[in-house]
Order: sequence, then C-alpha cells, then structure tokens
Amino acid sequence: MAHLPILQFEEKIMETVEKNPVVVVIGETGSGKSTQLSQMLHKRGYTKTGMVAVTQPRRVAAVTVSRRVAEELGVQLGEEVGYAIRFEDRTSEKTNIKYLTDGVLLRESLSNPELNQYSVIILDEAHERSLNTDILLGLMKRLIKLRSSNLKVLITSATLDGEKVSRFFFDCPVLNVPGKLFPVEIRHSSEKPKNYVEACLKTAIDIHVQEPEGDVLIFMTGQDDIEKLVLKLEEKIQGLEEGSCMDAIVLPLHGSLPPEMQVSVFNRPPPSCRRFIVATNIAETSLTVDGVVYVVDSGYVKQRQYNPSSGMYSLDVVQISKVQANQRAGRAGRTRPGKCYRLYPSMIYHDDFLDATVPEIQRSSLAGAVLYLKSLDLPDMDILNFDFLDPPSVESLEDALRQLYLIDAIDENGSITSLGRTMAELPLEPSLSRTLIEANDLGCLSQALTVVAMLSAETTLLPGARNNTEKKKRKHTPSNLPDGSGWGDHIQLLQIYELWDQTDYSIDWCKENNLQVRGMMFVQNVRGQLTQIMQKMAKESLDVQTSRRHKKSQQDYKILRKALCTGYANQLAERMIRHNGYRTLGFKSQLVQVHPSSVLKADEDGMLPNYVVYHELISTTRPFMRNVCAVEMQWVVPILGRLEKLNIKKLSSGGSDQPEERIQEENSNLEKKVAAHSEPPEERDSRIQAARARFLARKAQK
Ligand code: CDP
Ligand code: MG
Repeated sequence: MAHLPILQFEEKIMETVEKNPVVVVIGETGSGKSTQLSQMLHKRGYTKTGMVAVTQPRRVAAVTVSRRVAEELGVQLGEEVGYAIRFEDRTSEKTNIKYLTDGVLLRESLSNPELNQYSVIILDEAHERSLNTDILLGLMKRLIKLRSSNLKVLITSATLDGEKVSRFFFDCPVLNVPGKLFPVEIRHSSEKPKNYVEACLKTAIDIHVQEPEGDVLIFMTGQDDIEKLVLKLEEKIQGLEEGSCMDAIVLPLHGSLPPEMQVSVFNRPPPSCRRFIVATNIAETSLTVDGVVYVVDSGYVKQRQYNPSSGMYSLDVVQISKVQANQRAGRAGRTRPGKCYRLYPSMIYHDDFLDATVPEIQRSSLAGAVLYLKSLDLPDMDILNFDFLDPPSVESLEDALRQLYLIDAIDENGSITSLGRTMAELPLEPSLSRTLIEANDLGCLSQALTVVAMLSAETTLLPGARNNTEKKKRKHTPSNLPDGSGWGDHIQLLQIYELWDQTDYSIDWCKENNLQVRGMMFVQNVRGQLTQIMQKMAKESLDVQTSRRHKKSQQDYKILRKALCTGYANQLAERMIRHNGYRTLGFKSQLVQVHPSSVLKADEDGMLPNYVVYHELISTTRPFMRNVCAVEMQWVVPILGRLEKLNIKKLSSGGSDQPEERIQEENSNLEKKVAAHSEPPEERDSRIQAARARFLARKAQK
C-alpha cells in the first residue's frame, strides 16, 4: 500500500483542499484515489463534522472499494466504513466514510438538499461521465455557494479532462498525481477479426504459451461473451500438454456477478499460476486488479443508447474511444513493463475511434433526471438552461418533459405536481413510480409492488430469456410457469411471483422452474423495501395495501393493467390491423413489433390486443417492445386527449408561447386519430369483428 502514488502527494492534496472549496484530482487508475483520499480526509479530522461521501457510478465499485477500505482500516464493513447502493444500505450511526452510487446521493439530496450529513463529497470516476455524476456536478456548483464554510468537494478522474471541469468550477485547482506507469508495448492486429471471441481466445493462449508470467486482462463487451470465453479458455488450457506451461485460472469480472465472485479477483493468486481475467469495461478504470501484465483489447464496448426522437433504446456494441483504448493499455504497465494486444489495426484507432466517449447524459432518457431537477424546488431552476458540463440535446429534454406531463408529474405549465414529488422520492423510473401510486388509489398496490420489483431485478429471472445456448439447452424442459393469461408480460411476472409466494419462497421451486434463485431473492428483498417506502410515504393518510398473500382474480389483473396504463402513458402502442404489428402513439409514431421473448402472442386467429403499453422500446434487428401489457381502449382515450393538448414550449418554459409548427401538425394528426377511434373504418370488416369477439370471449373465460 505504501507504494501507492497518491500517498506521496498527501501533504499537497490536503493543503489544497484546506484552502479551496473545490479541487480536481487527476491520477492514473490504480494510483489510490478511490481508496486513499477518503482515509486521508478522515485522518485529518474531516469526519468530525460529517461523513466523507465518495460517489461511484458503478454499484460493484462502491461495494468492493468500501470493503477494501474497511479492511485497510481494520474495521467491520458497515460500521465506520460503509456503502449504500440502490436497495442496499450498509451504513450505521458509526459510519464516517460512506461509498455510495451517484444515484443514491442524488436521492439523498431530495430529503436533505444541503446534504448536511457530509463534510466532504468526493465525486469519483468523474471521467466516466455518468448521467447522475453530471447532474451532481451541476448541483455541487450551487451547493458550495450555500455551504462555503463547511463543505469540501473533490472531483477525481483518471483521464486528463481536468481543465474543463476546473473551468466549470470557477477555475478551481487541478492536482495531477503522476502515475508510475511502466512502458506498455502496443501491438495492433493487421485486420479486424471476424469473430472476436475466437480472436481473444487465440491471443490469450498465445500469451500463455509464449510469454513469461504475469496476469492477462481481456476486455470483452458483455456477460454472455465473457461466459463464452471463460468456458473456451478453460477448455483450451486443460487441453495443453501437462507441464508445457504454468498453471492458470480463469476469472470473469462484470457487474452482474454475485458478490463473492466479484471479490475473488482481488484475492492473491496461488504462486506461479497465471490468471486470466475476462472483464467488461468495468476493469478499465473503476476496478484495478493487481498483477496484470498483458492486456487483450477487443476494441469494443457495449453501450446503451437512447434515441430521443424515437424514444428507443438500443444496446449497441460500439467502438471504444481513444481515451478508453489508452486506459485499457495502461492496465498492463502498473507493476512492470507490459504488453497490450489490440485486436484492431492502428489505422482504425487513429481514424475511426472518437477521442472521448460520449457522456451518458447525451445518450439517455432524461425523464428521471428532469423530474429530479424539477423536484429540487430551486426558484431559479430552468431545465433547458440548467448548468450542465455538457448539455444534453433539446430534443431529449423535450422528450422527458412530455413523458412527465403525460404521467401527471408536471402540469401543463411545467410545474411539478404533488404526484410528481411523490414519484421523485421513489427509487424507480418515473413510469413505475406512477404505476405504484395509481395502483394504490385503485386498490392493487400489492400486485403492482410485485410487478415493479420483478422489473427491477438487475438480472434475467426467466429461463432461456437471455442467451441462445441456454434456450437450446432448455428447449425440451416444458415450462410449468404461468403465461400471463393472455394479458402479457407484467401479468406473467406477477403470476410467477405469486406462485413462488405460495411455496413460501422455496429455493427448490425456483430451481425446478429454471428461475434464477439469486434474482428472485433480490426481487423479494426489493419488494419488501418498496413496501416500506410506500408505507412511510403514505404515513397515516393513505391506506397502503401491501399484504403478502393475495388471491388471483381477473378483476385484480384488470385494475393492475389499468394502473400500468397510467404509468406507461408515454409508452402506448396501437395495433395496426394490416401489419399485425403496432404503432407507437405520441409525437413520433413508428411501427414496432412485440419482442419474441414476450408471452403476449397472437391467438389462433392471429389477433393481438388493440392497445398495449410497453416497458421499453429496444432496437435490435428491428424495433421491438419489451415487456408489454394489454390495455383497454377506454383507458387509452383520455391519454390521447392529453397528447392533443400538449405544448412542449409551455412545459419547458412555463410561458404561453405559440406552439411550434411541428406540434400543430402533430396535433392535427392526432385529432384525426381520436376521431378515427370512434369508428375505425377497418374494424367494420365483419370477419375481423367476429374474430375479435371470439378473442374477447376467450379472454373473459380465463
Ligand atoms: O481509484 P484509483 O484507480 O486511483 O485506485 P484505487 O481503487 O484506490 O486502488 C488502489 C490500489 O488498491 C490498487 O493497487 C488496487 O489494486 C488496490 N485495491 C484492491 O486490492 N482491492 C480493492 N477492492 C480495491 C483496490
Ligand atoms: Mg478509482
């Protein structure tokens, strides 16, 4: 530990912090920013007047780094040193140093806008430019004015974008902690591989056979490929001639690993044993695994991107940026000279790679963020002119405003409603918060809590939903799981949980049904926490119905679907009679299909429900709606009516400007649409009518 570069700069850093409200600290990954700064501040007495908060964009980092710091200080995790991530709080009265995700800190600031419990706030991993960190940067700028006498803010980053952050914070000082990087030899492939899992495998084995000892870190895009490569590598290594190379172990590293597996990469390996660590970009800067000498860089990263003009998410495998490529290479030179094998030509690096990664705020849905900003109640808050380090597009802000208006979080003048305030307090996406509130009013909160908890599971619960190999394997195991009774995925999730509830949460039952045990336990825990939050919010005024046992009935499903329809008002789609696909409703309608993994299937007459709401739109080979729920026309009509009245200018500025042309045009389309609803011409076709009647009759029987 003594060799950590940051420790040599302790005096200088502490002196600068003493004299300045905001300090930017830039230091090579692994230099000790995340684990040491908090301890230095603790040592200097900063924890006497409040806690030191250290934010992390990734949950895994918050957990592993706090565990490490607790170890270094010789204290029990959760006491002097703790962490808080969504749905998991391991802190106590004693806690001095608290690691928390940036999302948790944002939520805390709602109940305590001045964040008085903290004497120091460290925004760690600022270069990651997560949406929440970007919002926090804006907030800190205000907060240091309010608490100039008793708050210190540190912003730490692994890459050299310090000048920009410094300008943002009135030219605050920037401290550079020079890294002790050894030279890293970079080898580019002559061409891009056809199959990059195979290319990684080959490179890894070549290193193992030819190169002296040292661990190998391989950057892949996601869990599926990581699992594939881990299996292949193990197989290949076992196939090598006995005694021809040293021993080797292969370890996966990604955000959805069970906690005990996440920790295992930090354990010392047995002597003369090479470790292969197959990781996502989590190992780029958030986690440092010691002992790495060789890096294999696929050149890709999986990135969730939101397209505000279509309201659609896509999970794309995209090329990394130059900054990322250099970070990855740097992992090889921490303890001695290393090598980085880039599986792409140097021309691609120079000509195709972006200089830096696009910040998340410019590729995310902003509904939650905008609701948050509105709920801060700052007199001079103007969403479109909020002081962002890199402002998001006007389009995505408008998209967020429209959604918030449709789910009653803001009124037509753009002011937050009391419903909106309640929604902001729930640790959920606005659509799900709205669903819970509506469900409570309608008397189906218990069921809605279950559905929302199931949707909040961080991993895939259902068998075969994730990858094809699993699907093939399980094809012959008939599933006894319920099918949503024709109403779609949300109802299926509810039915599954209710069955599990009847077995008294049996682990064997999960296994028998190929349900992910850890995921289901997580859901149970989340459901309990959400229940408590709802109860607390309701206090005495609201009768919150959250009993564990519930009976199934079609009536229950109906009111639950109604609540979902309210929450997902901005995620509504209408069946296209000719295509048997759907068209999303709203500003920009487009044709979409129900995702093949959905339980909502056309019946034997080829009929699908006329209206559905969806949890998300995702663009893979085609635009798909994932997690859909059938809803009824009479619930939809009022929503269409509200769309008609919507005036984005007003929502964002609160003024009474003339609507834009675009809106007028859309509105007139919508008028036609609403008119058409009273008598859809195609529905006059008696054959379709008859099929529809049969369809409805069957639904009613179920
Ligand atoms: O934040 P930064 O990248 O500057 O470094 P850090 O996370 O504070 O890590 C400093 C050192 O602690 C590195 O050598 C890590 O390998 C080590 N560390 C560890 O062994 N186990 C952890 N859970 C976290 C850090
Ligand atoms: Mg760090």
